[in-house]
Amino acid sequence: MTSEWWRTAAIYQIYPRSFADANGDGMGDLAGITSRLGDLQELGIDAIWLSPFFTSPQRDAGYDVADYCDVDPRFGTLADFDAMLAEAHARGIRVIIDLVPNHSSDRHEWFQAALAAAPGSAERARYLFRDGLGPDGDVPPNNWESVFGGPAWTRVTEADGTPGQWYLHLFDSSQPDFDWTNEEVREEFRRILRFWLDRGVDGFRVDVAHGLVKAEGLPDWTPPADAGSMGGAGGTGASGVTLEPEISDEPGDHAPYWGQDGVHEIYRDWRAVLDEYPGERILAAEAWVDPLPRVAKWVRPDEMHQAFNFAYLETPWDAAALRTVIDASLEAFGDVGAPSTWVLSNHDVVRHATRLSVTEANPQGHGLGPESKGLPSFEAGLRRARAATALMLALPGSAYVYQGEELGLPEVIHLPDDARQDPTWFRTGGERYGRDGCRVPLPWEADAPNYGFGPAGDPWLPQPDEWRELARDRQRGVPGSTLSMYRLALGLRREHALGAGTLEWLPGFDDAVVAFRNGSVVVVANTGASPVELPAGDVLLASGDLEGRTLPTDTTVWLRA
Ligand code: GLC
Repeated sequence: MTSEWWRTAAIYQIYPRSFADANGDGMGDLAGITSRLGDLQELGIDAIWLSPFFTSPQRDAGYDVADYCDVDPRFGTLADFDAMLAEAHARGIRVIIDLVPNHSSDRHEWFQAALAAAPGSAERARYLFRDGLGPDGDVPPNNWESVFGGPAWTRVTEADGTPGQWYLHLFDSSQPDFDWTNEEVREEFRRILRFWLDRGVDGFRVDVAHGLVKAEGLPDWTPPADAGSMGGAGGTGASGVTLEPEISDEPGDHAPYWGQDGVHEIYRDWRAVLDEYPGERILAAEAWVDPLPRVAKWVRPDEMHQAFNFAYLETPWDAAALRTVIDASLEAFGDVGAPSTWVLSNHDVVRHATRLSVTEANPQGHGLGPESKGLPSFEAGLRRARAATALMLALPGSAYVYQGEELGLPEVIHLPDDARQDPTWFRTGGERYGRDGCRVPLPWEADAPNYGFGPAGDPWLPQPDEWRELARDRQRGVPGSTLSMYRLALGLRREHALGAGTLEWLPGFDDAVVAFRNGSVVVVANTGASPVELPAGDVLLASGDLEGRTLPTDTTVWLRA
């Protein structure tokens, strides 16, 4: 196995609920993943990251874990997991799983024990229980708000039936936050890491890796009005309308629950656990903090290996902004000896085939729906998304691809209200649509029931009729299809070792053009309105049709240098 594979890897995110359904219950499962690994091998990715498949009441689509060391029956069994892992490894695909350490489900046995136990007990000390304020204790302990809307505290009823203490939940009320100052919590997560490392996983994507430690005394705090839902990324968050990315040396967000210094000690401890195992197992941080030099703290040499580059994800399709964020990323991660990562879509954001062309502000997590304004046509959105992907996959470092983007799937706007499941939708009384629109089950075969997602039964979110034409079998082997472009780009990326390359900006282009050389490949992306003359060189890849030697708007080309 190649050394330090994670520095250059193309990692494909599987959202198990929506990938492939083997048993026909309308929800994807591990056996479904196993059956489709050949398609991913053909696509040319190096690793997969699986969103949670652990035992869970699914109040937040599995990010509410009731048992960290077992598989939810909806997704299969531990034996199904082992079979999936073995098949992936046999195909040369590494497997990263999701670890959710900030909070458990309220159905976790520890939280159930905490509810049954008295205030001040050891059971309650694993979570953040506090007395309420005011004479009757009916005012929450502080003013923090849940990322999903509403207060971050819920009051419990004590065993004797009286109104009792409050517990903290930065997300849904079904997701109580652990108290990471408690050694028992720390020891439990070392055990969980070892459980999965022993089974052979190649690493962990660490959920809310900026949230575990809260400032002492849990002081009040009011987020700035323009923060996205994760409250930490700053800016307008994935709006597609900000032309300057939020890159500065000023610390961005000082929320007393995001990015506290104490989190780093936890990751150093975990790194030591991973390093006991052979084969370069990795930690990848979901840390929504800014600016980039602050994110880079998560990937110092004795901490994690990778951190998601949300500054890149949040950058609009604008050449100046892209150059700035690429430079800032390479510099910030380079300063600590880590690779930069790149990502355009995941299960929490509006799919980039829509997002990059939306003209109205749309903070992360708010989602899009029938009442949203400034939505692009399918064709315009896809054209820009393909150009953005072709640019991203040529950058040095590691790139993340979210399931379905290789088919050009747009955000699903017209989901019926009663189909929506994101807690954001419920906690804001429908004011924010939430994230369901990027989570709709994949189309595999145009002419099969559910487009081949599963053998029968309604998928857990309805698939739009227009997706028939986007089904994988309609695109496989078709020159110019989005799937073919991804496959070509991933193949060339590997062949030319672009992940391990060095970026050199090319001068002499219009301001609206991003142009660079990465080793033997020259990349030119036109974000402007007018066509641009191409430099010399054979065309290796084009994200859209070229007009002779000119590069139309919203198109990216790779040339042999
Ligand atoms: C992360 C996950 C998101 C989840 C949240 C709470 O941001 O990516 O899907 O809702 O954490 O666990």
